Amino acid sequence: MKLVEAPDYMSMSKQAADYIATRVREEPTMTLGLATGGTPLQTYRYLIQDYENKETSYQHVQTFNLDEYLGLPKDHHNSYYTYMKQNLFDHIHIPPSHTHIPNGMCTDVAQECEMYEKKLDQAGGMDLQILGIGENGHIGFNEPGTSFLSTTHLVKLTESTRKANSRYFSSMSEVPTHAITMGIQSIMKSKEIVLLVSGERKSAAFRRLMNKEVSEEFPASALCQHKNVKIFADHEALG
Ligand code: F6R
Repeated sequence: MKLVEAPDYMSMSKQAADYIATRVREEPTMTLGLATGGTPLQTYRYLIQDYENKETSYQHVQTFNLDEYLGLPKDHHNSYYTYMKQNLFDHIHIPPSHTHIPNGMCTDVAQECEMYEKKLDQAGGMDLQILGIGENGHIGFNEPGTSFLSTTHLVKLTESTRKANSRYFSSMSEVPTHAITMGIQSIMKSKEIVLLVSGERKSAAFRRLMNKEVSEEFPASALCQHKNVKIFADHEALG
């Protein structure tokens, strides 16, 4: 794992976006794995700026999102579909048919998970996966205890994750209880991983990751076994 240190959130985001945009220019038909949440927001803003200034093309890029809440319609203001449209897709001229997000309103969850994993494999797996990390070490919605062999699957969200995400909802009771997420194995199939870590809130998880003790009790530790991981972290996260 290679660490790229930045003094603050803005420069961490700029360094990560510069790196990702360069990779897209090098490999214009790449398959890009995307995360949601607070951390990547500024990285996406810089990617949009880069698109506007340098005309980096997303015409032939395919994207796969890590996860989606179960039970939220696409157009719900808290769905990850809406998040992606508002924070990235609507601004980089990417064909909608090239963007993939699990369907949170599917009627057969097992089938949806199987289809999503299959689509991912058919696309040749991800070339570059962007990740954030939860305070408990989750990646995607893979909570502590998730098998490292897991592929796309249904998860029951832990109370701590629901609480962390409740900041985007008007009340805790509105936060979905379940989600569909790529599994640890799906994530590990990516040729390259870019992990974004920001803020004091993440410093304990960051320290634990850097201990490099691999355990399913700390999902992000699977990354220690991956050959090509870059961690972009700001000073608050570094502790
Ligand atoms: C989002 C995701 C999550 C987040 C994590 C950190 O698609 O899969 O694993 O990356 O919960 O979220 P933030 O960045 O909001 O602290």
